[in-house]
Amino acid sequence: MGSMTDAIIKKITLYNFRIHESYKLVINKKTTSILGENGCGKTSVLEAIYIAMRGKSFRAVDKDILKRTTDFYRIELEYLNGEKTVVIYDNKDLKKKFLVQDRKYLRLPKKFRYPVVLFLPEDLHLISSSPTSKRDYFDRILSQIDDNYSNSLSRYNKALKQRNELLKQDNISRELLFSWDIMLANYGVSLRKKRAQLIEIINKRLTDVYLSIADTNDKVEVVYKSSSSEILESEYVKLLNMDYERDVATRHTNFGVHKDDYEFIFNGSNANGSASRGETRSIIIALKFIEAELLYEKNNKKPVVLLDDVFSELDKTRQKCLMENFKDNQVILTSVEGV
Ligand SMILES: Nc1ncnc2c1ncn2[C@@H]1O[C@H](COP(=O)(O)OP(=O)(O)OP(=O)(O)O)[C@@H](O)[C@H]1O
Ligand SMILES: [Mg+2]
Repeated sequence: MGSMTDAIIKKITLYNFRIHESYKLVINKKTTSILGENGCGKTSVLEAIYIAMRGKSFRAVDKDILKRTTDFYRIELEYLNGEKTVVIYDNKDLKKKFLVQDRKYLRLPKKFRYPVVLFLPEDLHLISSSPTSKRDYFDRILSQIDDNYSNSLSRYNKALKQRNELLKQDNISRELLFSWDIMLANYGVSLRKKRAQLIEIINKRLTDVYLSIADTNDKVEVVYKSSSSEILESEYVKLLNMDYERDVATRHTNFGVHKDDYEFIFNGSNANGSASRGETRSIIIALKFIEAELLYEKNNKKPVVLLDDVFSELDKTRQKCLMENFKDNQVILTSVEGV
């Protein structure tokens, strides 16, 4: 499985992590299945792996992850090469610590972050989901592909939050908002460029990868819909400023990349409404394959693939196609079947 340089998980141990008071999983196969009834804690195990490999959860904040009525959680993730990442969250200071190679960090250092392809059941409904879910989805990909993306995104979100808090007060002048406008424009333009670039790269491959899955010559494309497309920072500031009266009236920021959306196009029409359920699933699987390729190209490491209960939603052909594509990756999957 994979090459010597790939990050391959050997063992995971959890303490006070959601439903798990104490949990251990030793992995010695290429494909590992975590089986169990609904609510027994399968997704939580994938979540813990994701935290130890990426630095934070894909679905929650630490205080909600911590097993109720306990004071700390701990994740130990051991790799085949002997490396080990320990994550400790302490409810007293509400902080997480990462222990790697005998050193302590408040954030997981980039050199100890490893590529992960995460496939959640809700991803299969991405095409018809809200703009927020679609933004989160592509933001998650970008955070793994671009080292500075999540930093820009969190700075943008902080500035947006501050600006919106100001707008909740009375008599806020344009001048007061201005320093936030500059910041939103700066990070906003950078985020927009990176989002547009990612979609361009995806589109170069999507139709071909789709063909390899569905075996039909359908044309598939993603359109990035940003209100700030092509504009410069100075114009972005102007547009924020032009919205001043509306923002004051609605008490929040109406313009910006936090309103961006993505649309899937299938043979020229919006896939949401024209593609069948099977076709929709093939599009998402194609997207996952491209994600895995991009992560491999960036890291020169095969990503670990986490499949959360997706087989139950796929027919045999697509299941086979998925496993075939990831035959050289470490795959950890969950399922309620076979219990
Ligand atoms: N902080 C917490 N403390 C204790 N229990 C929790 C906490 N957060 C979630 N749980 C519980 O943990 C259980 C496991 O959740 P998880 O999502 O991992 O289950 P699952 O096996 O993936 O279920 P499903 O098959 O329905 O997807 C749920 O019953 C949930 O209510
Ligand atoms: Mg689950």
